[in-house]
Amino acid sequence: MDGDVVLIVGGGGREHALAIGMVESPSVGQVHVCPGNAGTSSIATNHPVSASDVGAIVSLAEEISADLVVVGPEAPLVSGLSDMLRSKGIASFGPDAVGARLEGSKEHAKDVMQTLGVPTADVLKVSNVSEVEQSLDTFQPPWVVKRDVLAGGKGVTVTEDRLTASEALIDAIESDGFVLLEEFMPGEEASILVVMDESDFICLPASQDHKRVGEGDTGPNTGGMGAYAPAPVVTETVLSRVIEEIVVPMHDYLAGVSCYRGCLYVGLMIDEHGTPRVVEFNVRFGDPETQVTIPLISSDLNELLGAAARGSLSDIDVSFRSSSALTVVLASEGYPSSAKTGRPLLGSDGKESGEERFGFVHHAGTKLVEQSVVSTGGRVCSATGIAPSLSEASEIAYSLISGLELEGSHYRMDIGHRVLKK
Ligand code: AMP
Ligand code: GLY
Repeated sequence: MDGDVVLIVGGGGREHALAIGMVESPSVGQVHVCPGNAGTSSIATNHPVSASDVGAIVSLAEEISADLVVVGPEAPLVSGLSDMLRSKGIASFGPDAVGARLEGSKEHAKDVMQTLGVPTADVLKVSNVSEVEQSLDTFQPPWVVKRDVLAGGKGVTVTEDRLTASEALIDAIESDGFVLLEEFMPGEEASILVVMDESDFICLPASQDHKRVGEGDTGPNTGGMGAYAPAPVVTETVLSRVIEEIVVPMHDYLAGVSCYRGCLYVGLMIDEHGTPRVVEFNVRFGDPETQVTIPLISSDLNELLGAAARGSLSDIDVSFRSSSALTVVLASEGYPSSAKTGRPLLGSDGKESGEERFGFVHHAGTKLVEQSVVSTGGRVCSATGIAPSLSEASEIAYSLISGLELEGSHYRMDIGHRVLKK
């Protein structure tokens, strides 16, 4: 078949959304995913190669003559997957290992921000259990305790309770040797996915994740329980400040020190005055933010990601739908502390078709076992709606999720609550 051969690395909802976007791109001939999930297997070719096995991914890319590899998760980027692919002449969407340190080490990210004057929370590194009480006196509650490990958003404790904060600090010091204690930033969160290479950057529509497991933003942090885009908290004025104060300095810095051809995920806290500060950087697309961002791109996704991977982003134009998108995550029983898996998921082929209003189920932790879909992870899938208004997108997503059946599963009923005020 004519068109590019694209390999997507990963097996979550983000990768299913990327696979759908690639299948719909006129410039694409074949879409491969490794390892993929039950959802990607119905639209693309899955390969049983782990997303952390960088050597096997490079071999697979060579075997299928991939024109472009799009790397979903951070771990293979930190391990140098993009460097290895580029050394073989294969275009990779994802930064090199030097660029990926921005997510691989929160301490390094803080150092970079402080050096560049990028606005973020003050931070204290605590390496000794004997310093814990004194360090807690340095900040007002609530305390923000961050382990410096790749923990998918789950290595952070935000608490008003001094004992809980001190236990989190001690546990982290004992397991990792040190921990970061941060100033609490009040405000509303938003994420901006910035596609970049050395020639240019393009900000995709801002989105808002819902990180806490429970309604009303209660309970422990998760990888993300739902999202919507565009997020109105990112007004034009806020976006201009984000670009000027955060994206431009980061772009200039990254272009100088690394081969940063990929996505910079800017996690923001926006205070009541509209002042943005960085909560975190990730070096990849967000999950579930991707599920609500990619469907809003109306131009060819392969052209966008391929141009970034080849360093020619400044040559292309991107267009967006003037729609809204909302996704609701269906999580396994016990998630986020422990997830019960291996259960049948019914109804995951539900969809709504239309030009203006459409929706589908993005698979995440699923696999096919003898033609049946079975859960394999904490976040099993998410139901996504796209429509002219956010309330219609929400209606589609909730109608789709009510058609899913998975024993013991749970989902939040209030995704989009800051805008929809149900
Ligand atoms: P992170 O893994 O750094 O994104 O943190 C996970 C979540 O903890 C964020 O999405 C925020 O909801 C919260 N958080 C992290 N750092 C801060 C901070 N300094 N102030 C307020 N909330 C924070
Ligand atoms: N949704 C948060 C993340 O992708 O890190």
